[in-house]
Amino acid sequence: MKKYSLNELREMYLKFFESKMHLRAKSFPLVPHNDNSLLLINAGMAPLKPYFTGQEEPPRRRMTTCQKCIRTGDIENVGKTARHGTFFEMLGNFSFGDYFKDEAIKWAWEFVTKHLELPIERLYVSVYEADQETAEIWKNKIGVKEDHIVFLGKEDNFWEAGIDGPCGPCSEIYFDRGPEYGCDSPDCGVGCDCDRYMEFWNLVFTQFERHEDGTYTPLAQKNIDTGMGLERLAAMMQGVGSIFDVDTIKAIRDHVCELANATYGEEYKKDVSIRVITDHIRSVTFMAADGVLPSNEGRGYVMRRLLRRAVRHAKLLGIQGLFLQELVKTVVENSKHEYTELEDKFEYIVKLLTVEEKNFNETIDRGLNILKSHIEEMKTEGKTVLDGKACFTLSDTYGFPIDLTREILEEQGLSADEEEFKVEMDAQRQKARDARGGSKYMGADETVFNQMNPAMKTKFVGYHETSLEGTLEVLANDETLLDAAKADDEIYVVVSETPFYAESGGQAGDLGTITTATGKGIVTNTTKVIGGKFAHHVKVVEGTLEKGQKATFEVEKAIRMDVSRNHSATHLLQKALREVVGGHIEQAGSNVTKDRLRFDFTHFEALTYEQIEKVEALVNEKILEGLAIEVKEMPIDEARKLGAMALFGEKYGQTVRVVNMSGYSIEFCGGTHLQNTAAIGTFKIISETGVAAGVRRIEAVTGRGALHYYQEMENSLNEVAAAVKAKKADVVKRVEAVVSEVKSLEKENEKLKSEIAASKAESLLDQAEEVGAFKVLATKVDGLDMNALKNMGDSLKDQLVSGIVVLMSAAEDKVNLVVMATPDAVKAGLHCGKIISETAAVVDGKGGGRPNMAQAGGKNIQKIGEALEKAKAVIKEQVNA
Ligand code: ALA
Repeated sequence: MKKYSLNELREMYLKFFESKMHLRAKSFPLVPHNDNSLLLINAGMAPLKPYFTGQEEPPRRRMTTCQKCIRTGDIENVGKTARHGTFFEMLGNFSFGDYFKDEAIKWAWEFVTKHLELPIERLYVSVYEADQETAEIWKNKIGVKEDHIVFLGKEDNFWEAGIDGPCGPCSEIYFDRGPEYGCDSPDCGVGCDCDRYMEFWNLVFTQFERHEDGTYTPLAQKNIDTGMGLERLAAMMQGVGSIFDVDTIKAIRDHVCELANATYGEEYKKDVSIRVITDHIRSVTFMAADGVLPSNEGRGYVMRRLLRRAVRHAKLLGIQGLFLQELVKTVVENSKHEYTELEDKFEYIVKLLTVEEKNFNETIDRGLNILKSHIEEMKTEGKTVLDGKACFTLSDTYGFPIDLTREILEEQGLSADEEEFKVEMDAQRQKARDARGGSKYMGADETVFNQMNPAMKTKFVGYHETSLEGTLEVLANDETLLDAAKADDEIYVVVSETPFYAESGGQAGDLGTITTATGKGIVTNTTKVIGGKFAHHVKVVEGTLEKGQKATFEVEKAIRMDVSRNHSATHLLQKALREVVGGHIEQAGSNVTKDRLRFDFTHFEALTYEQIEKVEALVNEKILEGLAIEVKEMPIDEARKLGAMALFGEKYGQTVRVVNMSGYSIEFCGGTHLQNTAAIGTFKIISETGVAAGVRRIEAVTGRGALHYYQEMENSLNEVAAAVKAKKADVVKRVEAVVSEVKSLEKENEKLKSEIAASKAESLLDQAEEVGAFKVLATKVDGLDMNALKNMGDSLKDQLVSGIVVLMSAAEDKVNLVVMATPDAVKAGLHCGKIISETAAVVDGKGGGRPNMAQAGGKNIQKIGEALEKAKAVIKEQVNA
């Protein structure tokens, strides 16, 4: 058998299916689009679901991909065995209502025997037990010997993902790796759990749709979905024991060993850690490149967990310092040819992973401290099992994996209540699931757009023109297709060509009018809907609109210009951020409307005032320079060569639209733009805030929006000037003067207040009574807050020399109480804290304090008199008088 590298095998496969007229598409991003049923893409077919169901038209009826996939169902086993991994690439060829079993089987066999040149006598196939047709094809058309065909049940040979979606019976191809990989059991054969008969290619005959209730309905078209794990294939072809020995993955494994100064294959425990890191670094690198951010929920949590697991195992191996950034280089080096996003986003990936790694290094120490205090507490209380809630908090809040908690406890002869931990975990998972809103396939309900011809698509023709003479091809409301609509009706209009831009790429949909001979509608929004169509959201305002009528589609130009200004400015902003703040800045989201632009970007701390000023100034400079904006469609490779900035996790076709601002900013973009940056007019940043961990947001205005903003600022300034009675030019000086005047008045006020209090205090002294050897002053002084009351108490106490002061005031419906005693009174046994707790109870309050001073609050102002009596009584008791 010839040995091929993993990258060569991928190319062989994709080329082979291209030669069978398949459209070769790049891997879709790991983050599913419009599909709530999945956190991460887990099979080649997952991003293609709408093509299988016929909901959307595929670009071609035959496609082939090598898809990035992540599966974390078996995460606990990753590392422990050499078989498990979370990240893998899946080779697949797909037919959407085109070829079926005959061709799928024939081509699979041709690839396996002629291209991979696998010896026929070592190949086996499995067939679904109820699928005679497939068995016949293998036997009669391909010539596979009967004893190389195995029938298996639904569990093995019926492929379905999750509770709903396209599915069907399947047939799998196995390779006999030889007895050295076997388990020596007399029953060992295809389907055995050992490594000898390796299942490597799954051909699914996707002809059913499974529904949530467990029922199946036949799909309108018969499809093919195949899947072959590339790493597994590579292991087989390279004659190595596991995926961790495959060339590209071994490179990462070797790098881990180098950092850890360890040798793979020497010690089981170390091998586990080496494999965990090797696998997880691949997952987190690819996730980062597709825009996933570590967080505490959803796919962000998957990423965080993988990253933390890798970091912890690095600690077990004794790897010092920040190491992820080193390994990322090796991951990128080995996969960048196919996954160009790894190289494009390199700087960002490193920054993101390193920030998360640093944060975890900090939390891990905090977690260790908390666990240490739990252990001490357990020891004093004689407990041996740490309760599950504590384990959960450690894991949930401090990112402390349960196995780490367990390990540390075990070292101390203790254990964790893992049952209870699991209950807590499950409850949290359930919450996450609920938050995801079930797992309905495609995450969307059937809409009226499903009733429209799937072959009809809308072409956008409005980059230059904003009006068009066309026909009202399809009218609909939320429920059904319509022949006509009358005034006040709110409808959708769908046509095959429109000058209206549909909301996408963060840019708002166009507004405008649709007019016919009999009526007029206002377009309140334009959106993209299923199957490549645009929906004009129309409110009919005059007469009627009828299906088939000639119509004028007119975009409101002034608004389009406002939106375009904001969009072009967003490109300048991104570029300026990269120049001023750093190359790790990536677009994390954008939203451009007529009123403002909003740009979310990856960055890990607030921008400084200076940075914001610089960015704003730079954008304005580029506006003033009047850079010509050129928009061109070109092959994707050419665009990349130009250095065009691409979006995270975005799937681009072979031909892309590139917006080039005289070489200063070059971006992939489908939006509408100006012809020259000068038309932006001016650019003003309104705010800079954080929206999520690692994501900042800038809001800004341009053109008319900026003028409006400045106008408002000026109005405010005029109002301030009027309020402080100053000329505009003198406002600052005048406000400063007012502020300093206020300050000195405040000071004076304070002084006067304390003078009044002192003189009041003096008059109060007369009320002091003798109790035993001490003077007791218990009285009511109204309108004082706690602070004033304490000040007064202090001064009275000093003047009493030897005694105790009890002050109560009613302020704003509440009672404030203070009790203070001189040192000799405390020595003699007086305790302010105890006095106040009994006294406060009388006014429905609570309080306590030290022997020499205590304070409290109460609610019942009616009972202040009674409380004062109580205080006196308690004091008498305490001095035994
Ligand atoms: N969708 C099939 C699988 O994942 C090919 O195995």
